[in-house]
Amino acid sequence: MAGDDIIEMQVMSEWLRVCRLDEIPRQGARVVELDGTRVAVFRTAEDEIHALEDRCPHKGGPLSQGIVFDRRVACPLHGWLIRLDTGHACSPDEGCARRYRTKLDNAEVYVAPDA
Ligand code: FES
Repeated sequence: MAGDDIIEMQVMSEWLRVCRLDEIPRQGARVVELDGTRVAVFRTAEDEIHALEDRCPHKGGPLSQGIVFDRRVACPLHGWLIRLDTGHACSPDEGCARRYRTKLDNAEVYVAPDA
């Protein structure tokens, strides 16, 4: 549920280190900026990491400030559910948030800039 603590990054290699896993709260998110795009990096209750553009496909709400449960986040503005593993809105809503590849290596979180 971060948002104020944005990490700015410049794309220099395939994988960009974001932070340590324990720097993202369980069922929360941290925001990084990749080439001017805000990206929400989510951590599930099971310590899975997912990354989506921090912009709801409905009306642009900040997904990083939503509630994470299972592999979904509830947008804080109107409650759409967005799947963290695909970026798609759950039915009956339609739309998709841009998704980024992630990896966890030695408790360090990485994001690939190519969505
Ligand atoms: S902006 Fe996300 S549900 Fe409306």
